[in-house]
Amino acid sequence: MSSHTVYRLTSRNGFDGIEAFQEPIPVISKHEVLIKVRGIGLNYRDIATALGTLPLTIKDRVVPCSDMAGEIAQVGAGVEDFSVGDHVTCPVSPVVLYGPVKDEDHTLGGTIDGVMREYIALPAHTIVKLPSSSHSFVEWGAVVTTASTVWNAFYGHAPLKPGQTVLVLGTGGVSLTALIFAKAAGATTIITSSSDEKLRHVKAKYGVTHTINYKSHPDWAAEIKRITNDRGVDHIIEVGGVGTMGQSLQCVSMGGVVSAIGFLSALPSDEMPDVTFLTIIKGAILRGILAGSKQQLEEAVQFIAAKDLPVPVDRIFKFDREGIIAAFKHVASGEHTGKVCISVD
Ligand SMILES: NC(=O)c1ccc[n+]([C@@H]2O[C@H](COP(=O)([O-])OP(=O)(O)OC[C@H]3O[C@@H](n4cnc5c(N)ncnc54)[C@H](OP(=O)(O)O)[C@@H]3O)[C@@H](O)[C@H]2O)c1
Repeated sequence: MSSHTVYRLTSRNGFDGIEAFQEPIPVISKHEVLIKVRGIGLNYRDIATALGTLPLTIKDRVVPCSDMAGEIAQVGAGVEDFSVGDHVTCPVSPVVLYGPVKDEDHTLGGTIDGVMREYIALPAHTIVKLPSSSHSFVEWGAVVTTASTVWNAFYGHAPLKPGQTVLVLGTGGVSLTALIFAKAAGATTIITSSSDEKLRHVKAKYGVTHTINYKSHPDWAAEIKRITNDRGVDHIIEVGGVGTMGQSLQCVSMGGVVSAIGFLSALPSDEMPDVTFLTIIKGAILRGILAGSKQQLEEAVQFIAAKDLPVPVDRIFKFDREGIIAAFKHVASGEHTGKVCISVD
């Protein structure tokens, strides 16, 4: 077999631009490995990329998505650390081995072709060997961006400690991964959602200390201060952006950490929160997070395997055009809780 199926975004104004192509299977160089992709996880970023709403540079006719897990099919003559059959994944920016992401760094499914294909060739030093565990390829593919981002938020600067309180906003992939990590680290957890049904589901499936519906409690920061006896929360996984940052800074504890990760909400510009003043009066750490390095991904997957943590997979779709478009639409609908995935088996 010399060709394989590759999906590309032929336009960036909707999901119909996702098209299948038969292309030659990459020929690996001396220091590369060829990976048979087995599981793919979607992120909100992939949906924004396909819709043309992501304010970042995107390669023309890019192969979408950054998160995959698979099996090594071939190793280059100079590769010593990996063998055919090894189970592996790779970080969102394969060039970021450690330390902060730099602005010239390449991102899979962004400035370089991503993982929505049967085979991908990568330099051996960029990939992460998966620990033996009960997790499936789809589950490992689901955690790449979320686990490395959350690990960066919790351990990249002021580390999360047992007994602290963590707030996660909404029930998307980043937030549920953060909830699972925080609980396993011994934290008290608080989650918000627009839906009581989703909150009931998350409480039953993953366990959480407090739940708040941000639609029925539009002043949810006040509710958090009430729950925490006015102390506030130590770490906030801030995925809302401009529409939630004001309240996040109101309910962060003195000296607490707000990890600015996402931009899911909007506010009229005349209602912008005074982020500087709110950060100063809390003595808070407001830290921007740009995914995670290879090292952070490696540490996060070890944590998941060692603690046998659940991976919050919502639905798995097929690796065909219809399945992929349905998966993109499902994330865009906001009906999911956690991760939406593609199985390439
Ligand atoms: N900086 C980074 O490196 C990085 C890495 C990964 C993701 N991100 C960003 O983080 C954000 C989340 O990504 P994701 O993949 O987890 O998205 P996702 O799975 O699509 O999560 C969407 C969920 O967020 C919740 N939400 C939407 N608007 C909200 C609001 N105003 N307040 C609170 N929750 C709200 C909703 O939960 P309910 O339905 O329960 O209300 C929604 O279902 C995105 O903006 C993404 O681009 C950034």
